[in-house]
Amino acid sequence: MKFFLDTANVEEIKRINALGLVDGVTTNPTIIAKEGRDFEEVIKEICSIVSGPVSAEVIGLTSEEMVAEARVISKWADNVVVKIPMTEEGLKAVHILSQEGIKTNVTLIFTVAQGLLAAKAGATYISPFLGRLEDMGTDGYRVIEELRDIMDTFGFDTEIIAASIRNLEHVEVVAHLGSHIATIPGSLFPKLWSHPLTDKGIEMFLKDWEQFKK
Ligand code: E4P
Repeated sequence: MKFFLDTANVEEIKRINALGLVDGVTTNPTIIAKEGRDFEEVIKEICSIVSGPVSAEVIGLTSEEMVAEARVISKWADNVVVKIPMTEEGLKAVHILSQEGIKTNVTLIFTVAQGLLAAKAGATYISPFLGRLEDMGTDGYRVIEELRDIMDTFGFDTEIIAASIRNLEHVEVVAHLGSHIATIPGSLFPKLWSHPLTDKGIEMFLKDWEQFKK
């Protein structure tokens, strides 16, 4: 399973990348705005740190606008992926871009049907939003599980990115369900590697070692 970092914070990316845990990065306009930096500059910097795919989202709403933006963004780096919203216009843009060899990540997916359509249109990645589905009381895990089955049954190359990940359980369950990728906020990563019993265990081992040396 691959881990992407869901952040545009360069320090966070460097910290987790140093552990060999970063297979790619995803951003969206909210994430970019949080950094208060120029969009192109920050995406280029992230692409130079991480060798895997880095998603940068378009702002346009028509297929013409999305395709024009995507053609520009795709030239920023070899590993850039263009994020396209899941709309009729978005699907049209994905179809055109896939024929041009431009990689896409279709975002804001909330149903199995949306994911299937995006894959059929030629998306490289599809991003079902687990946390936002749960906020509405809907089972996001089912969407991910069924999409994985469908991708395998029909031999799609499209990879599923479990997005809107909020907690440790989300990461564990989507891994179990076979999501190809989980995109994880930088702030959540330390919660994945730490446990109070691990800290307590180290403390006890060191205390016992000190006693033994006396
Ligand atoms: C990533 O591709 C998504 O944009 C992101 O995971 C959304 O997360 P949120 O629902 O916590 O904003």
